[in-house]
Amino acid sequence: MIDWNEQLREMREEYDSTPLRKSEMKACPLEQFSIWLEEATEAGIPDCNACSLASVDEESRPVARAVLLKGMEADCFVFYTNFNSRKAVQLRNSPWASMHFPWFAMQRQVVVTGKVSLLDESTSEDYFRSRPSLSKLGAWASKQSEDLDSRETLEKSFLEAREKYGEDPPKPPHWGGLALEPETIEFWQGGPHRLHDRFLFERGESNGWSIRRLYP
Ligand SMILES: Cc1cc2nc3c(=O)[nH]c(=O)nc-3n(C[C@H](O)[C@H](O)[C@H](O)COP(=O)(O)O)c2cc1C
Repeated sequence: MIDWNEQLREMREEYDSTPLRKSEMKACPLEQFSIWLEEATEAGIPDCNACSLASVDEESRPVARAVLLKGMEADCFVFYTNFNSRKAVQLRNSPWASMHFPWFAMQRQVVVTGKVSLLDESTSEDYFRSRPSLSKLGAWASKQSEDLDSRETLEKSFLEAREKYGEDPPKPPHWGGLALEPETIEFWQGGPHRLHDRFLFERGESNGWSIRRLYP
């Protein structure tokens, strides 16, 4: 059996990115995010629009899970989900959340924090219409985050949805978009000798952004 303690101690990536200068950062973090997302896409990072979304339960215990960034409407970070899911229930109760984009192959990460609210219904409708037919049926079939006794039950539920709605199902009322309005956005890039670069953008009172460099 592998001695993971030994192995994990030995695992070490050296970072060698060209140091980031504050003067090279865009004044607007959304513009900066857009550039880094484009670079992650061009670098062929799989699922580069996937991030970890952290929320907290009623006792402030955090939990994170992956979601796909599917829009930047009104300068918000938009993802789609089931409104009865654990995350959606938690976010209704406590709307502060964080998204972590792990572009490790580029020696980069971005951490966003902010408040989550419901995306407008028409944008959710538009997005749902753009999804493949079978994914639309999946949204009807899954009671996301509830106990499921077997895979067969899920498949039966999918077939029942197909029977009922055919190839072009409507958007379920319990499914749609949530929009995180950013309050802070932090850009991190690995540097040699663990001298990484970190820039933290914070939204000010008049909606402008300030930028600070942080120790790594
Ligand atoms: C790469 C990846 C992308 C995912 N994207 C989404 C998504 O966009 N929306 C979603 O509801 N779940 C998505 N999931 C599943 C979630 O991570 C999670 O299992 C599910 O939403 C239930 O989470 P919850 O019980 O905390 O609400 C994704 C999972 C992975 C691995």
